[in-house]
Amino acid sequence: MQPDHFRFPPGFLWGAATSAYQIEGSPDADGRTPSIWDTFAKTAGRVANGDTGDRACDSYRRVEEDVALLSQLGVQAYRFSISWSRVMPTGRGPLNPAGVDYYRRLVRLLREAGIQPMATLYHWDLPQALQDEGGWTSRRCAHDFASYARAMFEALGDEVPVWFTINEPWCASFLSYAFGLHAPGERDLARAVTVAHHLLLAHGLAVKEFRRGEFAGRIGIAPNVEWHEPYTSHPADVAACERGLAWFNRWFLDPLYRGRYPAEMLAGYAALGIHPPVEDGDMATIAQPTDLLGINYYSGCYSREALPAEPPHEEVARQIHQLRRLESVDVPGFKKTDIDWNVYADGFYKVLSWIREEYGNPPIVITENGACDNTGPDANGVVDDAARIEYFRRHVIALDRAVRAGSDLRGYMAWSLMDNFEWAYGYDMRFGLVHVDFDTLARTPKESFHWYRRLIQEGGCVA
Ligand code: NOJ
Repeated sequence: MQPDHFRFPPGFLWGAATSAYQIEGSPDADGRTPSIWDTFAKTAGRVANGDTGDRACDSYRRVEEDVALLSQLGVQAYRFSISWSRVMPTGRGPLNPAGVDYYRRLVRLLREAGIQPMATLYHWDLPQALQDEGGWTSRRCAHDFASYARAMFEALGDEVPVWFTINEPWCASFLSYAFGLHAPGERDLARAVTVAHHLLLAHGLAVKEFRRGEFAGRIGIAPNVEWHEPYTSHPADVAACERGLAWFNRWFLDPLYRGRYPAEMLAGYAALGIHPPVEDGDMATIAQPTDLLGINYYSGCYSREALPAEPPHEEVARQIHQLRRLESVDVPGFKKTDIDWNVYADGFYKVLSWIREEYGNPPIVITENGACDNTGPDANGVVDDAARIEYFRRHVIALDRAVRAGSDLRGYMAWSLMDNFEWAYGYDMRFGLVHVDFDTLARTPKESFHWYRRLIQEGGCVA
């Protein structure tokens, strides 16, 4: 029986998430070939301390141990990602049976433990072989992705009830191609816009394959969203926040749910001579119905219109400024996590409400939410990550409010099961419920792990 205080809908899934490159290690094992992240991490100056995912959490070889941790945590679902170059070393063509076996084993172990597998097909680790042919700047990559997706539906579809196509397309395009902070590390806004379009197209083509193959289960995409709260009620600041939402959230959600790019942003790009490479039929492919929307949310901010006296010198920075004319304002009293992101739980509630109103209340799984808290073990080996607990508490309360306001929420995946390779930050930034000692690879559940286990037992009631 559900406890009286149970507020989350029946069947709501509490879970945890990870991704392949961030945890697996074993980059050359059993036929895997490099991905763009192997290349990027091995390029001097790209990742803090020169860290790479070569060993990461060694999950490729410790899969039993990691599923046991999930069991101990009491989760009902686990969101992991598939390394494309592990299962299809050349990016297209024949499958690598040894690579596929790893995910078969993982999925079987999860199911034996009563944990629902949720597979993400693309969490940023494009096979380098495809990058060498232009990667996501080339339209062909979207078709290659659909073929790879189809192969995974065929290999694992009987066992995996939930699929996410692309994780955080904003990061895989703008952060990677305009800001240059993620692989492959370019700074060219026009190429970022092209990549974003091809990622959306790849998603749509994969959904088509899923439908064509009549695979059981549900499929969706997992964009990251942020929230901008106007710093003042001045119309210019309100409009600036609208631009912020259009640039980040709408650029992906409008094509997915309305079949068109947001007009104002499109005009802004056109003024810069930048146009997404839309071909006939693309928008219908992108906008075809999905079963679930994955939402990754970490942070939001107060923002206002920004009109600096001196526009930035560098071209990409100047272009981005011209589009957004927005700056975030540090609000005294706002807490920040150890990665310097605002803790803004109200923004979580607001962005979920905004999605409900703007996009027809789609069924949502929170595919990621979590905090960077670098607290390590004390003298007794206890990891008292109180700031992470506080972050989760506030965000679960916001989630609860969103459910009661009518949002169709189906699950919540905490990021992350364990400390892992935090992309350009390397191993310096820790998001795990489980502490990983990257010398010994020992796993130690943190206080937040025990807190989250109790929360799951209580059906989401925050103790
Ligand atoms: C979102 C990404 O999907 C994930 O890979 C990353 O570790 C977290 N954000 C934290 O930055």
